[in-house]
Amino acid sequence: MAGAAIAAPLPVVPLPAQVELSSGRFVLDARTPVRYADPQARAAADEFARLAKTTQGVALVVDAGRTSRAGGIEFRIDPDATAEAEGYSLIVKPHHVVVSAREPRGLFYGAVTLWQLLSTDADGRIAVPALHIQDAPRFTWRGLMLDSARHMQTVDEIKQVLDMMSLHKLNTFHWHLTDDQGWRVEIKRYPRLTEVGGCRIPLTVPGSPPAPEYCGYYTHDQIRDVVAYAASRHITVVPEFDMPGHAQAAVAAYPELGVTGTTPPVSAEWGVHKYLFNVDEPTFEFLENVMAEMIPLFPGTYFHIGGDEAVKDQWKASASVQARMRELGIANEADLQSWFIHRLEKYLSSHGKRLIGWDEILEGGLPAEATVMSWRGIEGGIEAAGEGHDVVMSPSSDLYLDYLQTHSPNEPPGRPAIIPLSQVYAFEPVPAALAADKRHHILGVQANAWTEHMRRFDRVQHALLPRVAALAEVAWTPAARKDWNGFLARLPVQLPRYRALGIGYAKTPFEVRSSVMPTAQTGQVVVTLTNALGYDGIRYTLDGSEPGADSPAYAGPFTARWPVTLRAAVFVDGVALAPAIPHRIDATTWFSRSDEELEMCTGALMLRLEDDGPVTGERAIFNADIFNPCWSWKSAPLAGIGEIVVRAGRIPYNFQLAGDEKSRRFQPAVTEHGELKVSAGCDGPVLASAPLPANADADGFLTLALPITATTQTQDLCVVFTGDTRPAYWVLDRITLLPR
Ligand code: ACM
Repeated sequence: MAGAAIAAPLPVVPLPAQVELSSGRFVLDARTPVRYADPQARAAADEFARLAKTTQGVALVVDAGRTSRAGGIEFRIDPDATAEAEGYSLIVKPHHVVVSAREPRGLFYGAVTLWQLLSTDADGRIAVPALHIQDAPRFTWRGLMLDSARHMQTVDEIKQVLDMMSLHKLNTFHWHLTDDQGWRVEIKRYPRLTEVGGCRIPLTVPGSPPAPEYCGYYTHDQIRDVVAYAASRHITVVPEFDMPGHAQAAVAAYPELGVTGTTPPVSAEWGVHKYLFNVDEPTFEFLENVMAEMIPLFPGTYFHIGGDEAVKDQWKASASVQARMRELGIANEADLQSWFIHRLEKYLSSHGKRLIGWDEILEGGLPAEATVMSWRGIEGGIEAAGEGHDVVMSPSSDLYLDYLQTHSPNEPPGRPAIIPLSQVYAFEPVPAALAADKRHHILGVQANAWTEHMRRFDRVQHALLPRVAALAEVAWTPAARKDWNGFLARLPVQLPRYRALGIGYAKTPFEVRSSVMPTAQTGQVVVTLTNALGYDGIRYTLDGSEPGADSPAYAGPFTARWPVTLRAAVFVDGVALAPAIPHRIDATTWFSRSDEELEMCTGALMLRLEDDGPVTGERAIFNADIFNPCWSWKSAPLAGIGEIVVRAGRIPYNFQLAGDEKSRRFQPAVTEHGELKVSAGCDGPVLASAPLPANADADGFLTLALPITATTQTQDLCVVFTGDTRPAYWVLDRITLLPR
């Protein structure tokens, strides 16, 4: 079928640097020879065959040697293939496919691209369009950080992350292994780090059963296994040992390393903690001994020393730290941190490693050789690159994957500043503000998955994908070739690949959300359907049935009569991108709101939090502002209402707020355990109020019905729980208005 149209758009993520389409296509089946021309090319050929088997179901046979005149697929190491170490060349002709690269890593990426180009036509034939791709990455640091300290993942799960990274041509796995809430790397010389520091007792609310200890760490053998697996996928593992802050688990294990002389627990709280390492010589001996055990496990160039969020309260308050500062002639705590980092740098460089740290290491000055990971925006990166340091851009504003990705009520727990896919995609790692002669210092880009709110691996996968696909294009594709609409057009093809490979991903960006407005006519609503990514092709049903590709197409807001059960999905090539979740609309719809449907009164620090329920399995999830437990219902229909029913949940209040403590706005309680208060506007009169009990019911919830006196108006309602009820916290689950 000469000249067959190429499946447009090119189904490859990240988009290659150069693509030249030609006519015709290469058709393959189980008889197609797959050859590797030298032993170094074998792994890429095997990977291609493995992927093709998984997604296309074709069992290709891989052999040593060259392809014959009869054709086939050949993988070759060829110094002339590309100029770049990680680049590759892919030439597809109707009878012959050649993937070539200078190095095995480039060849591996070529194999991934060739696999992504496979498509199965209507006759069941597997084909690749004829073309020539010449490809190489924009950046050398294409990173993903996984926090295994707050919540651990199994070695198998980490391998799944590495597999997923390699299919997106990412090459750096930053492994966050130590933190206040857990020490996760075996250090044989200091066994208490994992025996004590590897275990925390999760907080539960008073009155509920104690949670089992949360324990675990990675042995040297497991780490070697992960590192070797990563290497087979051309991924370097960069370990992080966070210093001088985020040290509470280590201090819990060895209190003499700390500043205060007291023994803290391994923290069961999130947020910024105060425990720092002290600056005594025996402590440096400890830090160096730990690094000495870690260094041989991680053969890469870089060693991450953390350096973030080390609030200096303990150093300031400590007579011995202050005495040491005087002895060293150090004027302030920022300079002390700088001195601390310099010592680490000296140690690491004398052991063949380069120091990398979070951007706080800039404070007080940093060693010339240090590399900076810019997370508090890009400013630290600009400053560091301006001073001649290498930089990895990883700003929390754009590349933190613990932030939620849509406004869907189906998002899992997380930080609800929304970082949508489009924002990750739009991130530009080389700031315009950076002088041209400093731009080469931007090594690349990294996204970070902090796991406070990811107790299960499916949560991690939800956080990563599809945003890692966008990250891949930021990291790999030339800036001028980036194209959001083109990316959106290529994304639906990724989803069946993920499913075939068992890679979990967030469905929320692909869902259709419905919003309804009452009309002047009772019983009638106007329905608006949207998709967070703006895909066309929404189809819907109103009778609760599964929509199909032939269901009515959504063309704009429409009127419907309740009761209806609305279900809608985006269809691309006849396939729904995400499940069509039922949305029931009836006469009660206007009189009830869940926490997800309400606003926060002040929105000072909203989180999406889980309740205290079973350690495994499902738990309720709440949107709550941890600085002000107050939910707002704008224009609630109070006419004829005689009772307000509030269902509340109870969750542990496990946050360290450090300097933000003063922002907390808990209203004073009048009774022993505080009150539930509903007022007309947050500053208006109290409409109803009731004392709260000490504890929730056995199911972890509490339902209170508050009578209200007649009102005929639409009102803004504020629902508040008063009192400082730490270590527990009441959170709104649902508010319902009942007629008189
Ligand atoms: C960080 O997010 N504390 C690096």
